[in-house]
Amino acid sequence: MLDLTKSRAILTGASRGIGPVLADALAARGVDLVLAARSEAGLEEVRAKLERHGRRVLTLATDVGQREQLERLVEFAQRKLGPIDLLVNNAGIEQTSYYEGLELDAIEQFIAVNLTAPMLLTRLLLPSMLAANRGHVVNIASIAGLGPAAFNEPYCASKHGLVGFTRSLRASLKAHGSAASASAICPGFVSDAGMYQDVHVRYGVVAPPQLGTCTPGAVAQAMLRAIERDEPEVIVNGKAIRHLLTLGMAFPRLSEWLVKRLDANRVSRELAELREAGV
Ligand SMILES: NC(=O)c1ccc[n+]([C@@H]2O[C@H](COP(=O)([O-])OP(=O)(O)OC[C@H]3O[C@@H](n4cnc5c(N)ncnc54)[C@H](OP(=O)(O)O)[C@@H]3O)[C@@H](O)[C@H]2O)c1
Repeated sequence: MLDLTKSRAILTGASRGIGPVLADALAARGVDLVLAARSEAGLEEVRAKLERHGRRVLTLATDVGQREQLERLVEFAQRKLGPIDLLVNNAGIEQTSYYEGLELDAIEQFIAVNLTAPMLLTRLLLPSMLAANRGHVVNIASIAGLGPAAFNEPYCASKHGLVGFTRSLRASLKAHGSAASASAICPGFVSDAGMYQDVHVRYGVVAPPQLGTCTPGAVAQAMLRAIERDEPEVIVNGKAIRHLLTLGMAFPRLSEWLVKRLDANRVSRELAELREAGV
């Protein structure tokens, strides 16, 4: 279990959405941070708001889809802060749409940002975590990493990959007897900020009431809990989702029937239709 006080972290996807709330929660716990995302202006705005916590907070504009920029980010963070104990892979992209119409480049980009980048950053930081016998990798996945999400094949595949990667890495670290560890955070629809909130505001789509929403603050609390209690996976949402996912593992057909009854894919279907119509 990583003691967050005076830890040093890299947080990706820190410029907007859920990222700034994760950054605030970490800085409030005494973590020094390197914030990464493509938008320099967005990062600077977040950095300025974190000053009140009195921690060292640096920014580096980074496209996590570019391998050399990941190497530059790790080198920058280690040179400026010292050994990095915490990696929070939060940057992610999603676009609900019909798979048959997606550009091949777009499919590759989903995998590069949502899966390859977390895997490469982890690979770059793991040797120093193992040497120090201290560290934690937190991967912000999704419930789309645990069950099917319609009209979201690349996102769903990347998040399933991220959950699988986290499980394997965690198992390896436990088998090593290392104190370093890894956790996956799996939020459902997040209200108030982030990618669901953006489409909610833009298109008026609403999460099915049976599935509900959670706040960015709840995602941040789940991240802290995962680190401080070394939890393998945290689902951040109502109990209904947990039951549906468990049912899906044991009885996939029954789960499909229930999803249809609940109209749980309504948001995805509406978004895919809107995008197809070019709205
Ligand atoms: N919001 C939800 O309902 C929800 C639910 C489940 C899981 N999640 C997961 O939570 C994480 C954060 O999502 P969010 O809702 O905060 O999304 P968001 O509002 O769209 O923000 C995405 C963040 O990722 C960064 N990013 C995107 N592409 C990047 C790239 N190529 N290189 C570097 N940074 C990049 C963005 O910054 P720049 O544009 O400045 O690069 C931004 O900071 C994602 O992994 C997402 O899958 C979200």
